[in-house]
Amino acid sequence: MKDGLGRYGTALFLGGGSDIGLATARALVARGTQKVVLAARSPDELALQVEELRARGAAEVEVVPFDALATASHEAFVDEMFERFGDVDLVVLAFGVLGDQHAMEKDTAAALEVARTNYVGAVSVLLPVARKLREQGHGAIAVLSSVAGERGRRSNFVYGSSKAGLDVFCQGLGDLLAGEGVQLLVVRPGFVRSKMTAHLDPVPFSTTPGAVARAILVGLERKADVVWVPSKLRWVMSGLRHLPRTVFRRLEI
Ligand SMILES: NC(=O)c1ccc[n+]([C@@H]2O[C@H](COP(=O)([O-])OP(=O)(O)OC[C@H]3O[C@@H](n4cnc5c(N)ncnc54)[C@H](OP(=O)(O)O)[C@@H]3O)[C@@H](O)[C@H]2O)c1
Repeated sequence: MKDGLGRYGTALFLGGGSDIGLATARALVARGTQKVVLAARSPDELALQVEELRARGAAEVEVVPFDALATASHEAFVDEMFERFGDVDLVVLAFGVLGDQHAMEKDTAAALEVARTNYVGAVSVLLPVARKLREQGHGAIAVLSSVAGERGRRSNFVYGSSKAGLDVFCQGLGDLLAGEGVQLLVVRPGFVRSKMTAHLDPVPFSTTPGAVARAILVGLERKADVVWVPSKLRWVMSGLRHLPRTVFRRLEI
């Protein structure tokens, strides 16, 4: 339960190895979060990150196996998390894959893996998480969506459409949870310099995992439904969204 100072006692990260997720975990620990659970598909690779979070003051840091693609296991996984760790105050959904747009145009299986991870995997784990938080009567969920979901672009429409589906799903789920003591925060970053984009040249308005983490904490504190990172992207994307398709198509984006 959040304490009187607004600190989240226990935070669960789905996609625990994510740079944005780990930056958020560090920011939460700096604000007094005591228990951090990193759910990751390669738990053995997170020893250093666990040590770092402990050194920064977390009393308990656990790593548990979690695969977004293993949808049949999600219900039991969520039950186990709440049984093992008691009340979970914050769930951060940070897993996701970008895919290679050009390759996916020729490789349907690769495109399906992006869709299954980012959309199907998220729906599959968010529904049981939401049920548990409703039973608890308190808690928050922060979901990493993306500006890529705002409008289909030829340069990333497989990834973008998976985030659009996730974003709309979360908007509705957030409405369902509102008034039940559970907040759902949709996070829409632009280009973030993380593992996911290390092979790409940064674009205008590029940001960092730390900046996304700070925006998440502010959004949670303000009980916001959506945060854009950086915030000016809200207006940029609003402009782009309303451009006629014939004009939009000519842009090199
Ligand atoms: N970077 C950006 O420009 C950007 C912009 C907007 C939104 N986002 C979103 O922000 C979130 C975090 O991204 P990031 O920038 O922190 O990138 P990241 O460091 O690459 O994190 C993505 C994480 O997803 C995990 N993952 C992928 N497939 C998985 C699966 N099947 N099961 C469990 N975990 C899986 C990865 O695990 P491994 O560590 O095992 O690879 C990785 O830890 C993602 O949802 C991403 O789409 C990123």
